[in-house]
Amino acid sequence: MSVPVKASPNNSNLALTNELRQVTVPDFVAAKTRGHRLTMLTAYDYTMARLLDEAGVDSLLVGDSLGMVVQGQPDCLAVTLDEMIYHTRLVARGVRRSLLVADLPFMSYQVSPRQALKSAGRLIKEGGAQAVKLEGGVRSAAAIAAITAADIPLMGHIGLTPQSVRRFGGFKVQRDAERLLEDAQAVEAAGAFAVVVECVPMEVASRITAALKIPTIGIGAGPDCDGQILVTPDLLGLFDDIRPRFVKNYADLGQAVRKAVETYCREVRDGSFPAPEHSFR
Ligand code: KIV
Repeated sequence: MSVPVKASPNNSNLALTNELRQVTVPDFVAAKTRGHRLTMLTAYDYTMARLLDEAGVDSLLVGDSLGMVVQGQPDCLAVTLDEMIYHTRLVARGVRRSLLVADLPFMSYQVSPRQALKSAGRLIKEGGAQAVKLEGGVRSAAAIAAITAADIPLMGHIGLTPQSVRRFGGFKVQRDAERLLEDAQAVEAAGAFAVVVECVPMEVASRITAALKIPTIGIGAGPDCDGQILVTPDLLGLFDDIRPRFVKNYADLGQAVRKAVETYCREVRDGSFPAPEHSFR
């Protein structure tokens, strides 16, 4: 790693690596001891991946949240492995620097550790992912162990695991501190290099972060995690079907898109577009 980074107000916006080199899994793990807060966002296509990568985000996740924010479904359960591979391939073309992680969708790893390994292998070989992510703590430990034994880097995901939405009865904050800690430790022991902690009380996330050697990436889990992730269309104000409390809108691109398209329609209708400079002789 070329730039020594420690958490301080003066260097808090430094990237994890310089612009010429891709962030690796060891960079990601080392960030925890170096006090570098990790940044992670979701991406689903080439154009957005390129913009996010150029803006310096440490890692991009091709999340199965694409079921909701790209496909318009009520949850992510119907997303297939082939769809994940397709979107991972699109994102991979736009990535120069960020560590590219792809989600294993519902029922692509729950059947057996062998199925989990095969699915993870496809995301790496066919999608171009550098690492994979799956949901579950203790219950997914065997799948995590099978994948990491094949040297495929794996990120865990505990707390509000969206693939369990039917069991939870909705997208609800998870509060069982002892169980969450057990899940986090099972993920680490099985070989994961990092773990997403979603929608848990900040005190619990803080305890988990202190207990693990691997970085925790929080979403709705307070400020003490080693990094943060958001769903990019939420952050940009492009998706408002659901508005979780933990989302911060850093832009209102939804409004910007509506305004731009209204102006386009008006100009086409009143004949002011295309102007001479947009036309050929
Ligand atoms: O699918 C996804 O986007 C995710 C993040 C919310 C962590 O799993």
